[in-house]
Amino acid sequence: MNHLAEHLAQGFSQTPKTLSSKYFYDATGSRLFQQIMGLPEYYPTRTELAIFQAQGAAIGRALAAGAGAGQPLAVVELGAGDGLKTKLLLRELQNQPVALSYVPVDISPSALDELAATLRHELPTLPTEPLAAEYGAALTTLATRPGAKAVLFLGSNIGNFTPAEQVVFLRELAQPLTAADRLLVGFDLRKDPRRIRAAYDDAQGVTAAFNFNLLHRLNAEVGADFQLDAWQHFPDYNPSTGAMRSWLVSRRAQTVRVAALAGQTFEIAAWEAIQTESSYKFTLLQIAELSAGAGLRVVEVFQDEAGDFADVVLAVAG
Ligand code: TRP
Repeated sequence: MNHLAEHLAQGFSQTPKTLSSKYFYDATGSRLFQQIMGLPEYYPTRTELAIFQAQGAAIGRALAAGAGAGQPLAVVELGAGDGLKTKLLLRELQNQPVALSYVPVDISPSALDELAATLRHELPTLPTEPLAAEYGAALTTLATRPGAKAVLFLGSNIGNFTPAEQVVFLRELAQPLTAADRLLVGFDLRKDPRRIRAAYDDAQGVTAAFNFNLLHRLNAEVGADFQLDAWQHFPDYNPSTGAMRSWLVSRRAQTVRVAALAGQTFEIAAWEAIQTESSYKFTLLQIAELSAGAGLRVVEVFQDEAGDFADVVLAVAG
């Protein structure tokens, strides 16, 4: 049985039914997400970019500080996507006295191919080793590759984990790291709840299309028969917990049959909601507690002037 079918069976046995965000990023989904990053409502990408533009040199210094002069420093990026923001940091890191290399990791081979092609033009002297894989493979790279590492986990991808998963994941990331290594994690911060909700409910409907693409994908790849015209994209934000959630709501009752699950069927009631994605928003206190819980210390916090987003440099504690 393929991964996607297995995931569907597992997610649909839960209450509420759930589909994981990682399946958003096929070729179409990666393209839609690139469009999301350019939307007027979607502030995280351009805010993080502004932080790198204003403070990139200091971030570069902080990331390279543990590596000795002339020593290797591998930048390992989890969920590299189109690498737009990262290229800025890589240019800054090229000014540091280290032997720099770049290992972009992404679940989408098509996004990675495009990134590799632009890097050949824009940073032709940078040794680049793309890795089309899930995050787990990046952990293996971290554990086995000699030399200092700067691990990038940008764009508030950490917020796509539940709070319980966040600390487990950061602890796994931290585990193979040595005193020379640094982590750079992007966190979307708490702010006006209406702005947060709007970022996941854009006027052009790109975010809705991004969500619906998950159902397209299930129809195409595991032979499901979701009625694609019967779904509504419904985002909701809880300003108390910081949980931004996206739901797919079925406007009518439907029975979904899945060929790749031996014709197994799932009943979806009228107005039943499937949870597709959480994007948690953080306070600075939460970031400090999360880091400590994962065995990491906060080295430096970089924020935009409005305090909308934080890029946090972390190192192993002790
Ligand atoms: N990592 C992105 C975020 O949490 C992914 C994302 C943006 C997303 N918009 C979305 C996921 C809408 C699902 C639905 O901001």
